[in-house]
Amino acid sequence: MTGNELRRRYLQFFQAKKHQLIPSASLVPENDATTLFTGSGMQPLVPYLLGKEHPLGQRLVNAQKAFRSQDIEEVGDNRHTTFFEMLGNWSLGDYFKREQLTWFFQFLINEVGLDPKRLYVTVFAGDEKFGLARDHQSAEIWQELFARQGIDAPIVAQPLNGLNQGRIFYYPAEKNWWSRAGEPGKMPLGEPGGPDSELFYDFGPDLGLHENSAWRNQACHPNCDCGRFLEIGNSVFMQYLKTKNGFTLLPKKNVDFGGGLERILAAANNEPDIFKTDLLWPIVSRLMDLSARSYVDQDQFAMRVIADHVRASVMLIADGVVPARKDRGYFVRRLLRRAIRFGHQLNIQGHFLSQLVPTIVEIYQAHYPDLSDKLPLITQVITDEEIKFHQALDRGMKKIAQLGKIDAQVSFYLYETFGFPFELTAEIAQEHGWTIDQKMLTKLKKAHQQQSRTASAGKFKGGLVDRNQTTTKFHTATHLLHAALRQVLGNQVEQRGSHITRERLRFDFSFHRALTDEEITRVEQLVNQWITADLTVYHQILPKEVALKAGALALFSEKYPDKVSVYTIGHDLKDDYISKEFCGGPHVTHTAEIGAPLKIKKEKSSAAGVRRIYMSYAS
Ligand code: SER
Repeated sequence: MTGNELRRRYLQFFQAKKHQLIPSASLVPENDATTLFTGSGMQPLVPYLLGKEHPLGQRLVNAQKAFRSQDIEEVGDNRHTTFFEMLGNWSLGDYFKREQLTWFFQFLINEVGLDPKRLYVTVFAGDEKFGLARDHQSAEIWQELFARQGIDAPIVAQPLNGLNQGRIFYYPAEKNWWSRAGEPGKMPLGEPGGPDSELFYDFGPDLGLHENSAWRNQACHPNCDCGRFLEIGNSVFMQYLKTKNGFTLLPKKNVDFGGGLERILAAANNEPDIFKTDLLWPIVSRLMDLSARSYVDQDQFAMRVIADHVRASVMLIADGVVPARKDRGYFVRRLLRRAIRFGHQLNIQGHFLSQLVPTIVEIYQAHYPDLSDKLPLITQVITDEEIKFHQALDRGMKKIAQLGKIDAQVSFYLYETFGFPFELTAEIAQEHGWTIDQKMLTKLKKAHQQQSRTASAGKFKGGLVDRNQTTTKFHTATHLLHAALRQVLGNQVEQRGSHITRERLRFDFSFHRALTDEEITRVEQLVNQWITADLTVYHQILPKEVALKAGALALFSEKYPDKVSVYTIGHDLKDDYISKEFCGGPHVTHTAEIGAPLKIKKEKSSAAGVRRIYMSYAS
């Protein structure tokens, strides 16, 4: 079966079950500052999962492009990629567990032709701490479904009991609970989530893949990482909302199903290596031609990395992300440079990444016709980046010659200044017989990873890059600044965006001219006066209409669910307050925690009719 055929069959199967087809959203989330990339099918549908009516009704089906930057280091095994397509079907308060599990099982057996004996499932074991019940219903539904196929399917109450004893396994929240933020304890307030049931395909115990597995001679289990089992689909029963008072039920019980297109395809072809599916293999074949090497051992690893990274870059560039030093563009740069580095390992000479672009476009153009139009642009962007990196390589090599050594600090310097991948530096060092103190390098990397994780984990609500104490203080300060600007300049001032780091806050707002020195001073005075007055920061969850009536400022009204989170700063909630805004937090509880004085460091134009202010501590 081909990837295009599988995608088509899935969409048709659910359309026949009265689901409306929706197109894939962009990899760059629209109107959603919470994350950098679309990393799952549910992301563009969050407002509807939270209760908003979808214009196409309660049953939807799609194939959503997804990019998971956090998986970059995982790529190289038989199943991980940064870019993938997620087949999704959605019940927005319509059907629930029985229909979902039945239909997915039927699809796999009747349409894809999988042998049900090869399928294993996991369900949620419950979480006492959060009062979340064990998902008995799903386990029982699965048991019935297997029984109808003549398969006895014991339910195993404890994980890790081994396959011999079970087919349906209970796992705790770390494995069988789904929300964008992960398990219940990690979810921010206002985030939807629910128990999930994952389905695994068993490639069998005799695969060469398992030579190094701890499970080689033991009873394996679905969540074992040895590669024998491949998770091919995840049915999330999205029915909870995390609130200040624990988990409450969402207005409607939803189903969020996501199945990896490449992974189901791998199962359909009983081929454990997803890079051998027709969605990736043509890229690997091209690499074999370019390098005159085979798809084995270390070269296999390199080819997988290049194939994944270039495919992801093509898709990201098509959605408007170009290589850059920070934010989204940083990831495209990192993908391309990493791919170049692995190209060196394959001994491919010259610029080669752009030569892979037509192959990738050919695989995907039937389903994503815009790719053909964008082919010249994508090729240009990748060629430019390749040239740039080769120039950086030259400059870096000169620097190495000048320094006459590579140690941990130099390795890190080359990484930061010239974008040298560490593996490349290690190779050069080895050629010269220089040693790099790996412990020191790990230390430097860890500090850096910590920082870049804060980028890649996405921006939290409110434009914060993380949730530490200082960013939280600055976040509350943006509300004060907003209120002060409206007081000094008038109520036509509206927030247009914000970005907060540990060093400063940046605030964009609608206004048609530069501020005068007097206005800047007055705004600063107000903000500092309110900090010193130690006003209370109140938090409420309110029905949207009530919040609007109470005068709360809602900035992107179409995005808000029926229940909203509102922060009020003042002496009381009703009459004596200076700021009331729709906002997901986090905030300090009293303004004096911010600590005065704050100072406006810069005021400038940001776009037509939009001004930008940078503010931080005076000293
Ligand atoms: N949201 C779930 C996931 O991404 C299912 O679509 O796995």
